[in-house]
Amino acid sequence: MNWIRRIGLLLLIALVIIQFFQPEKPEVITENPNDIHEVLTIKPEVSQILKTACYDCHSNETNYPWYANVAPISWLVIHDVEEGRHELNFSEWATYSDKKKHHKLEEAMEEVEEGEMPLEVYTITHGDASLSETQIAELVSWVKSEMSKIVVD
Ligand code: HEC
Repeated sequence: MNWIRRIGLLLLIALVIIQFFQPEKPEVITENPNDIHEVLTIKPEVSQILKTACYDCHSNETNYPWYANVAPISWLVIHDVEEGRHELNFSEWATYSDKKKHHKLEEAMEEVEEGEMPLEVYTITHGDASLSETQIAELVSWVKSEMSKIVVD
């Protein structure tokens, strides 16, 4: 059984070494004048869905869990937040063109209806982010109503 101990030790050493390779976490910004909540009146049910199921990756107000500091999980978390914010950042909503807003709303609706968002890996550790059928319907109906207010040619 000596080899098991050796492998264990090697893994442990590797785990310690990779802690020195920590990419910078995307910054948390709490004052966001361009946030979607600043420019739209969003009813509490919908707001709550966005904040608990989407904001960690799609806003500047990421709430990092402690393991976001532990490699290799940190690499995954940082990657998701970087890419998530890049694709859709609710904190920058007011800076988007009407066309982009319309498109992102449509994408959001599709992603949620297909169960692609929130990411599955996220709901494992954030149970309250798993959306019920009612919540999905709530979000979809809000998205549709917002889309109808945007005129795109
Ligand atoms: C754990 C992080 C995470 C959470 C939580 C999350 N997303 Fe995402 N989202 C991503 C990442 C990463 C991408 C880009 C890669 C991809 O499309 O899979 C993305 C992409 C998107 C896109 C862009 C798709 C496109 O092709 O334009 C939309 C829209 C989206 N997410 C909506 C949502 C909504 C709405 C929620 C909440 C119900 C949500 N996401 C929750 C990480 C997340």
